[in-house]
Amino acid sequence: MLDKHKKLEKNSMLLLLFTVIAVSIGGLVEVIPLFRMDVTIEKVEGMRPYTPLELMGQNIYIRENCSSCHSQQIRPLRDEVERYGHYSLAAESMYDRPFLWGSKRTGPDLARVGGKFSDEWHVAHLKNPRELVPESIMPSYAFLANRGVDLRKIRSHLKSLRTVGVPYTDEMIEQAYNDAMAQGRADGDASGLRARYGDKVITRDFDGQREMLSEMDALVAYLQVLGTMADLRHYNPDIAEMKE
Ligand code: HEC
Repeated sequence: MLDKHKKLEKNSMLLLLFTVIAVSIGGLVEVIPLFRMDVTIEKVEGMRPYTPLELMGQNIYIRENCSSCHSQQIRPLRDEVERYGHYSLAAESMYDRPFLWGSKRTGPDLARVGGKFSDEWHVAHLKNPRELVPESIMPSYAFLANRGVDLRKIRSHLKSLRTVGVPYTDEMIEQAYNDAMAQGRADGDASGLRARYGDKVITRDFDGQREMLSEMDALVAYLQVLGTMADLRHYNPDIAEMKE
């Protein structure tokens, strides 16, 4: 065997040929699963595209680079599942463009932070993390409360997401501005929004400032929906029981 390998090592063309073969096998192993994406991602009850306000919140999350300190994927390991909840499913990030799994955890994982804290907690924490967690090193994001959320491009944003496969309907795109306003203002009529995105959509004045739909509203709306869409009991009853 070693003798035969000597032959390879002495003949550069032969070595090149075998290198190419070895690398192509490795490449194929990586690429082939991508062609079978529709089979790889299991369908899960409850997943829906983000509402326009949640989507704006996600944009702010991306702009502020929260991913540099927070991951959004719970691995199927016991310590993670006990700390953060049910491990993340592929389907749960199927509408994330770009995905925000992250690779660094200076702060905790946020994949299931939705519903864990009140809106007031989030607002106070984002304004001054140290007020709630004295030893926190998270930066302050108080300015988000003073900035109106910029909805001028929201329709084109939904439209472009549709071209890459997120199932926004014509009506969702048409009503994007109204839906964002309806979700972040407790007093508006949210029946259209609910008809389009489902009854579970949370509509309220997230940051408590009635006069303005702020970036804080959008970001908190986004944080509050993280990890809450998928019906996990339906997906895996054993694990839901284990947690209860
Ligand atoms: C420099 C790193 C850093 C950045 C950037 C950062 N965070 Fe944090 N975050 C932390 C740390 C550390 C904690 C844990 C202490 C605490 O709760 O403040 C934390 C905690 C949190 C929590 C509470 C999670 C829990 O389950 O206790 C939320 C929510 C959160 N961050 C959201 C955000 C958002 C949204 C952004 C972007 C606008 C952001 N963070 C940016 C470091 C960071």
